Amino acid sequence: MKALIVNGSGMENLSVSEVAAPSISAGQVLVRNRMAGVNPIDVRPVMDPLSVRPMPREPEKARIPGAEFAGEVVEIGSGVDNLSVGDRVSVYNRVFDGTCDMCRSGNENLCRDGFILGTISNGGFAEYSAINARNAVRIPDDLSWEMAASLPVAALTAYHAVMRASVKGSDTCVVLGGSGNTGMFALQFAKAMGAKTIAVSRKSWLGQYGADFTVDANGAAEFVSKLTGGAMASVVINSLGERFWQAGLSLLGARGRLVTFGTLTGRNVGFDIMNAYTKELAILGSTGGTMREFTGLAGDSMRYKVKVWKRFGLSDGRKALEALDSAERDGRVMLAL
Ligand SMILES: NC(=O)c1ccc[n+]([C@@H]2O[C@H](COP(=O)([O-])OP(=O)(O)OC[C@H]3O[C@@H](n4cnc5c(N)ncnc54)[C@H](OP(=O)(O)O)[C@@H]3O)[C@@H](O)[C@H]2O)c1
Ligand SMILES: [Zn+2]
Repeated sequence: MKALIVNGSGMENLSVSEVAAPSISAGQVLVRNRMAGVNPIDVRPVMDPLSVRPMPREPEKARIPGAEFAGEVVEIGSGVDNLSVGDRVSVYNRVFDGTCDMCRSGNENLCRDGFILGTISNGGFAEYSAINARNAVRIPDDLSWEMAASLPVAALTAYHAVMRASVKGSDTCVVLGGSGNTGMFALQFAKAMGAKTIAVSRKSWLGQYGADFTVDANGAAEFVSKLTGGAMASVVINSLGERFWQAGLSLLGARGRLVTFGTLTGRNVGFDIMNAYTKELAILGSTGGTMREFTGLAGDSMRYKVKVWKRFGLSDGRKALEALDSAERDGRVMLAL
């Protein structure tokens, strides 16, 4: 099969090669991958493989990136009775043991022995992937491959973040990086929960993706203050990290909840303890999402939409990863497989 292979640190070491298709074990299915979403998490194993923790147990077996993908089941392993050949599936990307305390309480995203496909094991930027059958979730017949390949990272991460903040109808929810992979979904989910939604973004199309209002980062505090009569936002979803940390906190009012799951502009921030306790702020970490949330999202996926900027073919995989950082980027980068 054709696969995008990492042969060392840096984009120049990324190339499409012919490799053996994976074989499946008991409890697994073989998926003919159709579409992948390209995310920041796919870039790190390419640019700096040694920084990915924990390190691969068998590094030579973890050379195909791709944490977000969907396709068709083409082969069924022994003991698999929940899927059939021909099923269209989206792939929950956390490999989990199902036996630890986190898994048993439905928190597979925090599995004590878990990892993400495409980081320390082969991912989906290839024609075929061998997947644990419990990670492959059926999608609606009419769902686009672009949307199916936006569920595992972009949509699920945003959904879990919205759940962590318990967003509800009385909330004013601000999403920083509103046009990003996760941002456009966080807006749609917060809107679906009934919240008033404000996108902080340089783009103008977010009204069609759940934003009641779109503001520039520089004018955000003044806008939120006016809109809320000085009370400020009750929820801020901020995955942008260091450079936007203080700006995100300054948008929160008393009892505000800040959800963070990313470090796009760095990870080291200052923290004003007094600001946090005098306003009784809650800072909530969030990562990925649970199997139950993923299954629910797949079932509900026709309600949501994804803005795709560019689709690349697998042979242009390197260009696809490079496009993620393009200044012209205006929506998602997808990789047709
Ligand atoms: N823990 C997890 O499970 C998880 C899952 C997914 C993502 N993440 C992390 O979350 C972060 C966001 O991911 P994403 O995929 O949503 O990112 P993304 O698609 O690249 O979106 C980031 C958005 O932020 C805005 N932005 C403002 N200043 C920026 C700057 N200096 N550099 C880049 N973007 C800037 C842009 O929006 P505007 O043009 O609208 O201003 C951009 O669309 C990343 O750090 C990622 O690794 C974590
Ligand atoms: Zn576990």
